[in-house]
Amino acid sequence: MRLLFACLALYLAVVSTGEAKTDSQKASRVVCYYNSAAHTRDGQAKFTLADLESALPYCTHVIYGFAGINEKFKKVMPLNENFDVTQQHYKKVIATKDHLNNKYAKPKFILSVGGGADLSGEGDEKNIQYRDLLESSALRTTFVNSAYDIVKRYGFEGIDLAWEFPETKPKKIRSKIGSFFHNLKTKVIGPSVIDKKAEEHREQFVALVRELKRTFAMDNLMVTVTVLPNVNSTVYYDPKLIAPHVDFVNLMAYDFYTPERNPEEADNTSPLFELVDRRTDENVDFQVNYWTRNGAPSSKIVLGIPTFGRTWKMTEDSNTNGIPPLTVDGPGEQGLFTRDAGKLAYFEICQMVETATKPQIPVPTLPTTSFVIEKDTSRRRGPYAFLIPESNKKGTWISYSNPEYAAAKGTYAKSKGLGGIAISDLTMDDFKGTCSYEKYPILRAALTTLASPY
Ligand SMILES: *[C@@H]1O[C@H](CO)[C@@H](O)[C@H](O)[C@H]1NC(C)=O
Repeated sequence: MRLLFACLALYLAVVSTGEAKTDSQKASRVVCYYNSAAHTRDGQAKFTLADLESALPYCTHVIYGFAGINEKFKKVMPLNENFDVTQQHYKKVIATKDHLNNKYAKPKFILSVGGGADLSGEGDEKNIQYRDLLESSALRTTFVNSAYDIVKRYGFEGIDLAWEFPETKPKKIRSKIGSFFHNLKTKVIGPSVIDKKAEEHREQFVALVRELKRTFAMDNLMVTVTVLPNVNSTVYYDPKLIAPHVDFVNLMAYDFYTPERNPEEADNTSPLFELVDRRTDENVDFQVNYWTRNGAPSSKIVLGIPTFGRTWKMTEDSNTNGIPPLTVDGPGEQGLFTRDAGKLAYFEICQMVETATKPQIPVPTLPTTSFVIEKDTSRRRGPYAFLIPESNKKGTWISYSNPEYAAAKGTYAKSKGLGGIAISDLTMDDFKGTCSYEKYPILRAALTTLASPY
């Protein structure tokens, strides 16, 4: 195993420093998202700079999440001024690469704006500044200049636009039996118009990336785009016109289902391919094809791979066979460490679920042995696990990502000639190696598929 990873690291070093890169080598970006908020978690879940350092040999790019946009002046601003700037976290993060052994190529550090972390407004007014600024060429200029300033001031090597466009409204699709029983309780919500000026915003976003690239290219700085989950690419992104102005585009092709959007129905959150009786556009393959068939070179498309799962509460109404889609009752309980209802990091999931057969310190509230695990040997929809509710214990249904499924996505990315993979994010992978005794099992599994021949 150690030898394999030594080879991988060497391979990466060659890929990122080699002068004459072939297309297939160029195709192997490993973009690592870093969520700075994970620094404040407790105990074993606290993600330190040392944890970040141990991932760097495997990453070609590190994306720092997230900065925001000042509502009034439309400038890029730190979302946590005290932490990012006063306590110099921006600088400390970038300085981690100086500790990297010389045999590894240094990853590029990119500051990302938005990412769903810049929360302001409510309903349709949510994150309105992201649309407002697109509409005025003067405001776009202000934004571009402020992006350039912040990147230069702290030593980032580029800017990433994880633009907070309005999300699509969820649509429920039920199996026939399900709808027979639940017609009365649930109403079907169809897609509705949430942005009357969507077409203009689509054009103005192209103008923004063009203007950014013009300024950034002079200093050899990067411009990248991150397409957030449930932002409809068909509506907001013109692949052909955007591609020439960006270094690459990260597709966060997951969270098609979440407990917040779909509180009454649980389903696979990030299927690789279209599943029976589901929407045709809620899968990785559709999202990738949209970009590559509409004029973006596949070498600029980077596939996002989640390192977390989504959880729902099972009830007496839930199918005891656990097969999705299934009736549920809102978000599952928060994780012991990540403390976010309906969401668990892989390092939490693997302790509860994946290591059921390995000797482990049992997690107190959720006995590992009771979970039923569906590993997804088809590699089309991802694994899920569940705990049937009984009189004395609560039921949970989890759709998640594990190393095997991440590898399937890496293989997919390679077979489509994509420009790499993006791990979203480092802080929710098993970064301490609690389950497998190896750090970053998801990152490594995905990476292995990129480095190995078909
Ligand atoms: C995305 O937009 C297209 C074009 O308007 C529409 O046909 C499709 O249903 C939308 N997808 C979702 C998930 O809302």
